[in-house]
Amino acid sequence: MSNRPRVLVARAIFPEVLERLRSHFDISYNENDDEWSPEELRQRLQGHVGALTTGSQRIDAALLQACPQLRVVANMAVGYNNFDVPAMTAAGVIGTNTPDVLTETTADFGFALLLAAARRMAESEHFLRAGQWNRWAYDMFAGQDVHGSTLGILGMGRIGQGIARRGAHGFGMRVIYHNRSRLDAATEAECKAAYVSKEELLRQADHLVLVLPYTPQNHHAIGAAELALMKPTATLVNIARGGIVDDAALAQALRDKRIAAAGLDVFEGEPKVHPDLLTVPNVVLTPHIASATRATRLAMANLAADNLIAFLTQGKPLTPVNTPEQLRAAT
Ligand code: DGY
Repeated sequence: MSNRPRVLVARAIFPEVLERLRSHFDISYNENDDEWSPEELRQRLQGHVGALTTGSQRIDAALLQACPQLRVVANMAVGYNNFDVPAMTAAGVIGTNTPDVLTETTADFGFALLLAAARRMAESEHFLRAGQWNRWAYDMFAGQDVHGSTLGILGMGRIGQGIARRGAHGFGMRVIYHNRSRLDAATEAECKAAYVSKEELLRQADHLVLVLPYTPQNHHAIGAAELALMKPTATLVNIARGGIVDDAALAQALRDKRIAAAGLDVFEGEPKVHPDLLTVPNVVLTPHIASATRATRLAMANLAADNLIAFLTQGKPLTPVNTPEQLRAAT
């Protein structure tokens, strides 16, 4: 039997990335790309020191207790709300994510959703495909302008800054943002972005884009009360995580025209989508594809693989979410 480290690749990935991993490790592979239950994941992880996961595999205290040989989990995503980081740190397990490589691609998509929602692209396309377009009308699918309007960003990390730059420099928008901590003056100037309170952000934004990480504190950060503060002409875009928006409250606000439109790439309990969102017309719905260009997904898979290789061969993860020093202090 080989004494190379054993690594579980928990979802299907690019064949070339799998081959790179095979040149370093003994690989167990989810060839059929099945969605394993937590119990099945626990069983399949037995005897493995590393795992490559996506956002759909939860790494929590129960799993860590059942897999004491595990040392590193590389998530092929920048978000890592599927990791219980304190539990991983306490168990001596490094977690890694894939920052930077998806920033611009994801910012492009956020902006595309904003444009599509504000200019009613999906709604009007459905109308056309249904054969309902038989005459011109002065107010047919009249939406909201994007250029020159006020862009609000909640969560001003790398992707939020990418959206701000697109809005300010490409569309002449006034950019306001709210974040846990205020950006330094140089970054604010580069993004032409002004810091405001969350309430001011909700009240002033013509288009509000959510790019904050999911944490228990951010659960339903946008619910009925927040939607009530927004302009009736406003657009809401969520490319962050499901659970940050109360989807039922949003569907109601869209139905009541409390806000004009929404663009959603992420959903509470996805891949299930709240049934009320499927029946309101003024929302553009996409299946969590903001980072999905071939080049970017390949870069994400390669970075996840590089993290496994760097940690398991040299003890130095490239983009950890908890550090070897934190692990040493905790164990
Ligand atoms: C991420 O990287 O977090 C994106 O949401 C893709 O899963």
